[in-house]
Amino acid sequence: MVARRMPRWSEFAQLVRPRAGGGRLARAVTIGDLREIARRRVPRAVFDYTDGAAGAEISLRRSREAFERVEFRPSVLRDVSVVDTTTTLLGRPASLPFGFAPTGFTRLMHTEGEAAVARVAARAGVPYALSTMGTTSMEALAEAAPDARRWFQLYLWRDREASRALVQRARACGYEALVLTVDVPVAGPRLRDVRNGFSIPPALTLRTVANAAVHPRWWVDLLTTEPLTFASLQSWGGTIAELVDRLFEPSATVSDVRALREDWSGPLVVKGVQTGVDARAVVDAGADAVVVSNHGGRQLDRAPTPLEALPDVVASVGDRAEVYLDGGVMDGADVVAAVALGARACFVGRAYLYGLMAGGERGVQRVADILARDVTRTLQLLGVGSVAELTPDRVRLRP
Ligand SMILES: Cc1cc2nc3c(=O)[nH]c(=O)nc-3n(C[C@H](O)[C@H](O)[C@H](O)COP(=O)(O)O)c2cc1C
Repeated sequence: MVARRMPRWSEFAQLVRPRAGGGRLARAVTIGDLREIARRRVPRAVFDYTDGAAGAEISLRRSREAFERVEFRPSVLRDVSVVDTTTTLLGRPASLPFGFAPTGFTRLMHTEGEAAVARVAARAGVPYALSTMGTTSMEALAEAAPDARRWFQLYLWRDREASRALVQRARACGYEALVLTVDVPVAGPRLRDVRNGFSIPPALTLRTVANAAVHPRWWVDLLTTEPLTFASLQSWGGTIAELVDRLFEPSATVSDVRALREDWSGPLVVKGVQTGVDARAVVDAGADAVVVSNHGGRQLDRAPTPLEALPDVVASVGDRAEVYLDGGVMDGADVVAAVALGARACFVGRAYLYGLMAGGERGVQRVADILARDVTRTLQLLGVGSVAELTPDRVRLRP
């Protein structure tokens, strides 16, 4: 028999603590939590445009699955009281081995848009690449975040003079590097967008008006702040696929990379490389870095999975160029795994966009904090003192 007594209020009161403050964003502990908040905050077509991918979205799923197959090999009894998460990217220091990837139409996700992302990047000490399809001009972004490491992402357009003018502007407003994206010869088949009738700017159809009642804050923001326009393109009133097919150059070749190399004296990053052979060709043409990327699964469905394609690219050009990876990176452990397998850094796209949709700049800050915390903790649990000490033997990809 257990002896019982009456509970005492003083003991009970000690057990009851007020809930941690900071609201919903602060309580989000993973990028997945932020994704769920984002889903409720923005119209369905906007969420789907961000979250979705091409075709049956097989590439996207495989990118995530590859990270799930990672098995770490930790060392124990190492002093990991302090770990060093810094690295260098294009010869300059970065606080963490990740950056924010270029994404189009960012002010559609939240009116604070690209400026918010750049300010968070500056605070986190990581680079941010502004997209050609951005909704904030290069000049306005430079003004909003003068301390950020700003890179500019370029597409090869049919109108070469227009591309060249963008390169000149990037130089004039102090962009550090050009990121040439090479995996969009034509638009990828984004089926969710087709089904949603998604267009830029958002069209006021009966369905979108009905949706406005469910997401009033997003619509009020859209209609009461600076109009949503492309900052580097003339305005457009059609679907994204139509825009891409009108502007983009399907006949581009590696000689265009060489030509760009002549025009631009700063660091040149080529994004969208998926094989060692292509990586070698663009590095021979003058690239300083390549991004192993299938555009987050938004172009060729069933493209190579970045984490699996990485070792071949590293073996082909790793001694001559920096190799980055993007696609499916959703936590700091993903970043650590990719770096161990030879990437200099990872870039995240959707992860920061979920944060942006969930809560503007504060949401993006939450993403940076979550990723930074998890990079640090993963290094500690792995028994590795610094990013520089990560080696391929730390990771095995389970079959
Ligand atoms: C909504 C959205 C828009 C994007 N727009 C561009 C773009 O304009 N230029 C570009 O090079 N890549 C673009 N990307 C691809 C990203 O730069 C990056 O390759 C991809 O998001 C990485 O996958 P992740 O979203 O799983 O992190 C876009 C991605 C998303 C999700």
